[in-house]
Amino acid sequence: MALLAADLKEGTKTVHSEAERSKFVKFFFKGEISPATYGRFLISLYHVYNALEKALDQHKDNANIQLIYFPKELGRKEALEQDLEFFNGPEWRDMLSPISPAQKGYVDAIERCAATKPDLLIAHAYVRYLGDLSGGQILSKKLQKHNDLPEGKGVAFYNFDQIEDKDGFKEQYRKRINQVEVDEETHKAMVEESCQAFIRNIDVFQEFDHELPLTKEEQEAAEVAEAANKKAGLFSSLAPSNLINSIASAVGLKSNA
Ligand code: HEM
Repeated sequence: MALLAADLKEGTKTVHSEAERSKFVKFFFKGEISPATYGRFLISLYHVYNALEKALDQHKDNANIQLIYFPKELGRKEALEQDLEFFNGPEWRDMLSPISPAQKGYVDAIERCAATKPDLLIAHAYVRYLGDLSGGQILSKKLQKHNDLPEGKGVAFYNFDQIEDKDGFKEQYRKRINQVEVDEETHKAMVEESCQAFIRNIDVFQEFDHELPLTKEEQEAAEVAEAANKKAGLFSSLAPSNLINSIASAVGLKSNA
């Protein structure tokens, strides 16, 4: 059994690439997420961090959770509240319900871990916090650049102002993950749970696909489908039943074809 941090990284490699390739992330990268869509995306994040940070607080005395418990440095709920107000206005809390299926699936998964196997919360914390400290930093720059945001506004979520050296902190965090003491079965379950957490993130992204313009591939697929529909329409007009109807009406008969 390799060290847990290495297994988490290795075990989530494929789903990490999948997340990077998701339509939402691609558009985010190109700066093509509208502020309104981003404001709604923040609602999804709020549900997730609200559940995650509540669960971590609840289990902060668990020896393993304690190792990765950094509420001051990592806690995102308050930062999200600032960004939510910036993008959605002071009434943003009205947007919290109804909770969407992907948001609920993610929150339920976190709550299930909290209720049954709190060690698995480490997988959820790993996926979100190390992600925010890594790719999240690139996304923050894109968000600022493409939306011409006033200095420091709207990106509180990505600003970990209690962490001076992000790379150093990530290294420390990985070391802490390696100190977690669990049996082999739980070790494996953690890798599995972190893959599931990535998939839940992809599910959340996908809920925004319909708000985004078509990608080149989608546009091409739509054109192919339209051409196929047209062809099918032409064939159906030549179908035997239509032909019989035409002949029947030409000779003045009523056809049941
Ligand atoms: C365009 C999107 C993304 C880019 C460019 C990106 C980029 C990166 C990079 C460069 C690292 C390595 C950082 C390092 O080792 O210091 C990393 C790590 C990581 N990313 Fe992403 N990422 C993206 C999306 C995501 C998403 C959507 C998630 C999850 C929600 C995520 C979760 C993680 C995690 C957990 C790590 C830590 C891996 C480890 O060292 O164990 N990333 N990402």
